[in-house]
Amino acid sequence: MEALRTEALDEVAAATTTAALKDVEVRWLGKKGRLTALLKELGGLSPDDRKARGQALNELKRDITDAVAQREIAVAQAELAAQAAGERLDPTLPGLPVDAGRLHPLTRVIDSVEDVFERMGFHILDYPEAETEFFNFDGLNIPADHPARDTQDTFYLADGNVLRTHTSPGQVRAMRDLKPPFRAIFPGRVYRCEATDASHEHTFHQVEGLMIDRHVSVAHMLHSMMTLLTGVFGRPVQVRLRPGFFPFVEPGFELDLRCMVCEGAGCPVCKRSGWVELLPCGLVHPNVIRHGGLDPEEWEGWAFGLGLSRLVMMRYQIDDIRWLMSGDLRFVRQF
Ligand code: DAH
Repeated sequence: MEALRTEALDEVAAATTTAALKDVEVRWLGKKGRLTALLKELGGLSPDDRKARGQALNELKRDITDAVAQREIAVAQAELAAQAAGERLDPTLPGLPVDAGRLHPLTRVIDSVEDVFERMGFHILDYPEAETEFFNFDGLNIPADHPARDTQDTFYLADGNVLRTHTSPGQVRAMRDLKPPFRAIFPGRVYRCEATDASHEHTFHQVEGLMIDRHVSVAHMLHSMMTLLTGVFGRPVQVRLRPGFFPFVEPGFELDLRCMVCEGAGCPVCKRSGWVELLPCGLVHPNVIRHGGLDPEEWEGWAFGLGLSRLVMMRYQIDDIRWLMSGDLRFVRQF
């Protein structure tokens, strides 16, 4: 019994790692351990022998268990100390970089557009991207045989609705939602069934603006457009107004911006013309006012539909529209 004890306790003392100690414990006290086997043999002894030997074996078991528990603490401390000794704190190392998030350039431009219009008393509204044909077309005075309705331009949904091809449906909705007079803008995504290239994307962004009042004029509209563009670019802008046709405005205009990249000298962004076509607008057509549930004899309005994606490209001099929706972090991290 003493020989056994010495052997077991020597093994415990010799274990220098947690793993080695665990091995010793299993070898002696485990289900198939040496001591466990000896305890099992007790059954074959006479009652007297069994008692004496049983007592001795149980004492031995307790001693081994205690020794293992104590050794465990010492070994764990030694292991920790060894690990700490291998690690050095170098207070001169640079700190961990904090990875700050970035706002997408589109978000930045939308924010500044909203900021400008909020200061002029405009509501900011959000309208559905899946639209009825009525709001996307008929309500805007776009007849059933208009080429815009072709499936080459428009994504038709299985339920007969469409992915809105512009933010203009918000005009009719806003007239029905708000009590005139009012002013509102509605920024958002629009969709066109289009082959993509550097200047065409199937998904892009517009912001629509609408002001309804008893007497509004092209001068009001122009002033608001100038305020918008000066606000977004943070410096004076030059614009020109040309006639343009859109079924939902009369008269309709194309507002061109003197190229902010080359200041009008001519560059690839403005296709060497010095001007960028940016902002279609006009006075709201009486039919559209009527579809909005208002009396065109009493209410007038002006509206614009700004190509946000184009504006972002202008402001940050991005030469390919496909970057905007690419989801490429290398792109976003530049802003
Ligand atoms: N909805 C037109 C488009 O996507 C743009 C537009 C033109 C909007 C004239 C307007 C407007 O509000 O007055 O092409």
